[in-house]
Amino acid sequence: MTRLLLLTDSDVGRLVGSAESVDVVERAFADFGLGRTDMPPKVYLDFPLQRGDLRVMPAAVGDRFAGVKLINSHELNPSRGLPAVVGTYVLFSQETGIPLCLMAATTLTALRTGAASGVAVRHLARPGSSTLGLIGAGAQAPYQFRAVAGELPIAETIVWAPDSDAERRDSFIQAMSQAHPKVAFRAGSLQEAAAADVLCTTTPSRSQLFPAGSVRPGAHINAVGADGPGKQELDPALLRGARIVVDEIHQAVHGGEVNVAISQGLMQEGDIAGTLAGVINGSLPGRTSDSQITIFDSTGLAIQDIAVAILAYERALENGTGSTIDL
Ligand SMILES: NC(=O)c1ccc[n+]([C@@H]2O[C@H](COP(=O)([O-])OP(=O)(O)OC[C@H]3O[C@@H](n4cnc5c(N)ncnc54)[C@H](O)[C@@H]3O)[C@@H](O)[C@H]2O)c1
Repeated sequence: MTRLLLLTDSDVGRLVGSAESVDVVERAFADFGLGRTDMPPKVYLDFPLQRGDLRVMPAAVGDRFAGVKLINSHELNPSRGLPAVVGTYVLFSQETGIPLCLMAATTLTALRTGAASGVAVRHLARPGSSTLGLIGAGAQAPYQFRAVAGELPIAETIVWAPDSDAERRDSFIQAMSQAHPKVAFRAGSLQEAAAADVLCTTTPSRSQLFPAGSVRPGAHINAVGADGPGKQELDPALLRGARIVVDEIHQAVHGGEVNVAISQGLMQEGDIAGTLAGVINGSLPGRTSDSQITIFDSTGLAIQDIAVAILAYERALENGTGSTIDL
């Protein structure tokens, strides 16, 4: 009999915390940089008429597990009352090739995406950074906050979302204020949010959201929203003046924050300083001055997914969480 463990999004959310996601994702990036992981390029199926896509993301780490994430990004879903990003993860045994666990991948994705930003601020932000600008108040935003606030002494968080989404922004601020009473959360203009010490941009925008001059010297930006061709949140002038670290060069050039500026000839691939793995492993200097603006161009890697998926799976076995089906 081959029994498959099933985990829901709420199971994954109960099993794995933000701080430990940052630690396992940091190790995954380090292993990736040392060539100890197997991660073929992400495959995209684009549905331009639906303003969405489907991605297939395989990876293997260590000698026990391999996995594949199947996940979408559909920017019109929130207006239908559906999440923009929904998916599933299948974890396999390398030894037998048999699937071990099928888990919902919406929470997994938000956890591992927040975790990459946590790793980035650990290595690139100024240590005393105390204000956070959240640009976008959707599904990724709370996970970005938790991962960043786990690394830095964040005292104030300014949240921006388009006016059309003011209701969701306000309920986000209310929920976050209750969960984190020591942090002052407030709504602010784009310029106010962009002037924080650390920014996390998590919108599906296809044009720059604020001018380069809104960002203060010494800021760190986690550019998370642009994860497909044509997506863009930042002013190319900001990219040209900053130290840019990406998760993976080809993926970033294809669909990361840099994709539009590079395709329009406003910057070159050579303007990218290098990868987060390089900074973690010490082959690439991180921030080189207190006044430098650093940008982490996050596109989302399959090694992040498998790192958090293994943690969720092993915890579930320990705790007896989830149900099983016989394949
Ligand atoms: N880098 C990664 O690893 C990674 C992982 C997950 C999601 N993403 C991307 O992050 C983005 C946000 O994902 P989410 O799940 O939080 O989505 P969401 O729909 O839950 O939230 C999006 C937020 O952006 C705002 N918004 C929508 N359209 C906008 C526009 N044109 N301009 C400015 N703001 C706009 C919404 O009001 C909302 O506040 C998507 O582009 C998604 O593909 C990236």
